[in-house]
Amino acid sequence: MTRTLTILGIESSCDDTAAAVVRQVDSTLPEVLSSIVFGQSELHNAYGGVVPEIAARAHAEKLDICVRQALDASRQKLNELDAIAVTAGPGLIGGVMSGVMCAKGISAATGLPLVGVNHLAGHALTPRLTDGISYPYLILLVSGGHCQYLIARGPDDFTRLGGTIDDAPGEAFDKTARLLGLPQPGGPAVQAEAAFGDPKRFRFPRPMLDRPDCNLSFSGLKTALMRMRDQVAAPKGGLTRQDRADLCAGFQAAVVDVLAAKTRRAISLYLLENPATPTLAVAGGVAANTAIRSKLETVCTEMGAFFTAPPLQLCTDNAAMIAYAGLERFKAGASDGMDLTARPRWPLDLNSPSMLGSGRKGAKA
Ligand code: KG4
Ligand code: ZN
Repeated sequence: MTRTLTILGIESSCDDTAAAVVRQVDSTLPEVLSSIVFGQSELHNAYGGVVPEIAARAHAEKLDICVRQALDASRQKLNELDAIAVTAGPGLIGGVMSGVMCAKGISAATGLPLVGVNHLAGHALTPRLTDGISYPYLILLVSGGHCQYLIARGPDDFTRLGGTIDDAPGEAFDKTARLLGLPQPGGPAVQAEAAFGDPKRFRFPRPMLDRPDCNLSFSGLKTALMRMRDQVAAPKGGLTRQDRADLCAGFQAAVVDVLAAKTRRAISLYLLENPATPTLAVAGGVAANTAIRSKLETVCTEMGAFFTAPPLQLCTDNAAMIAYAGLERFKAGASDGMDLTARPRWPLDLNSPSMLGSGRKGAKA
């Protein structure tokens, strides 16, 4: 008998209010029926970062409108859904609570089952939503708040191979842009400058490559950049456009090299499991960087692994990934009660020791 599951997803863990409807018929490739994202950047721009209280209030004001739009765009009514999935963490507590309360309200009013979802699992399962890849697979999650290598074995089953011990790469791109007077978010701005820069003019460090593990560090790159910037700017009282481009190119080349080297190690570890189809997926906003994407693709080709990266709108924060992760949990028999709580910290791999970095500083996940 055919089983069709239609799930409403709700996401509000940082500065995007999002709702989406995802459907799967049996085990076929799922379909995103709608995906609505209300960004909040204009509310936070003046403060140079996300202000948790402003974010929480904006989520509370926009969630019902967002859900309404997602339902309308998907042409579904609440009584045609099978469950409601909601991000229950990790993230900014006020925002996560707004989403969880909204989902509980809809669940109480309709009797629909409630499924709490880990936001990071949403990112990590996206390659199954977009490409239908099977477990197990290796995933590199690179965003403004996270950088980790995980082996995904099931919707609630992840093994972390390593991650950043300080800044996430997106955070490093954003800080680099700030230090060079470029606009936020820093990633696209630094990438655009780097395109006409000389990556060899400034010699940036390649941190942690002397260690045989999959851990990374990005905070030293920002210090190196500050020092080089000041050395170049001091004698002539500022930077030329070419100086800025060369600094961006040098910084980006260092991030690319570090990610490539650590990805080689992560793939080697994952290959020890003898996966039938070795796959590396990359997700998160930094996966939009074309230099990083193409280098990781080359590494995969060299090592005989398949490479996949979701389309950009599903790499950055969205609710389709939450609906899909909820769908997988629901299918596996999981659901939550009215006692579902918002969790600001919620590592995917509970057996690995917690790390210093990996989102402890970044607001985003
Ligand atoms: O996944 P995301 O939208 O938010 C979370 O952190 O969850 O990622 C945002 C991060 C920002 O730090 C942004 O600068 C970075 O992704 N980013 C990029 C690029 N596009 C976005 N970093 C490098 N190159 C890019 N093209
Ligand atoms: Zn995220």
